[in-house]
Amino acid sequence: MKDQAERLREMANQIRQQIEQEFVRQVHRARVVAISSGKGGVGKSTLALNLALVLCKQGKKVLLLDADMGMANLDIMLGVVPKYNLFHVIQGRKNLHDVIISGPQGMSIIPGGSGILELANLPASDMKRLLVELIKLDSDYDYMILDTGAGISKNVTSFLLAADDVIIVTIPEPTSITDAYGVLKSMNRASYNGKVYLVVNRVSDESEGIWVAEKLTIVAQKYLDIEVLSLGYILNDPSVSEGIRRQQPFVEIYPRSRVTHNFKRIAEKLLEAHREKRLDDLQEAKQPGIRNFFKRVLSSSK
Ligand SMILES: Nc1ncnc2c1ncn2[C@@H]1O[C@H](COP(=O)(O)OP(=O)(O)O)[C@@H](O)[C@H]1O
Ligand SMILES: [Mg+2]
Repeated sequence: MKDQAERLREMANQIRQQIEQEFVRQVHRARVVAISSGKGGVGKSTLALNLALVLCKQGKKVLLLDADMGMANLDIMLGVVPKYNLFHVIQGRKNLHDVIISGPQGMSIIPGGSGILELANLPASDMKRLLVELIKLDSDYDYMILDTGAGISKNVTSFLLAADDVIIVTIPEPTSITDAYGVLKSMNRASYNGKVYLVVNRVSDESEGIWVAEKLTIVAQKYLDIEVLSLGYILNDPSVSEGIRRQQPFVEIYPRSRVTHNFKRIAEKLLEAHREKRLDDLQEAKQPGIRNFFKRVLSSSK
């Protein structure tokens, strides 16, 4: 009789083979950007949605995945009621293609499941099955934005570790900054080797945004030896919540506001960093993209 460890090894091998077949079949490489934070309620979903929109408007093909397992709310922010969500995929009742809905500006959205306890604590085997499904979408997109949960749960960490880029969101409150540092620390401990970016949300003015970003980047460099690049800040503006109440994305209803300008600037800085990174990668012949993403997830959970 086979022991459990052997069965697990077999399963991992099968998944790896499946993925390798996908690697061979596909040529396109989507970039995986995970958005996370130490504390909840700091604006991850707001950033994920508006960043996705700005990228779409620039002609990029974007998939927005609500990966805040168990606390998903992108569908609510958009005022849509999806028939199926990630939960159905994990249960094996639907495949990912069936759950994708189209959002504003032609973006694709994979809704998460809200209030579903099982999603918040997925067993490694379910997580892998989900990832194998996701890899098949690689050739369809330029960007895959993952709106992850806060903190350092197992689900969140595997998404972060596997991404090409992680954007940490913080607000200027000391507790939020400390918790953001905690996420960096755990990424460091788990040997994350992608890029780390920072967005400071809900600042009262530009100087506060710059000050918080400087403080965190200097500490991360000094104590963790992590290079954190600031993508900028977003002003605190009550109309952001109003957008959420109206169930419409902010940059769509207030195209000329300063906050929309903040989102655009963040997208520009990210694209700029990617252009530079691509040149570096070409030189080093490294491959970014979803396939690499899943390769890293699978090897990290071996
Ligand atoms: N720049 C901002 N100015 C004012 N309110 C904001 C801003 N960003 C986010 N919010 C509000 O903060 C709350 C939490 O935002 P959300 O994006 O859902 O956070 P998270 O996804 O991190 O839990 C929402 O009510 C949202 O409207
Ligand atoms: Mg959220």
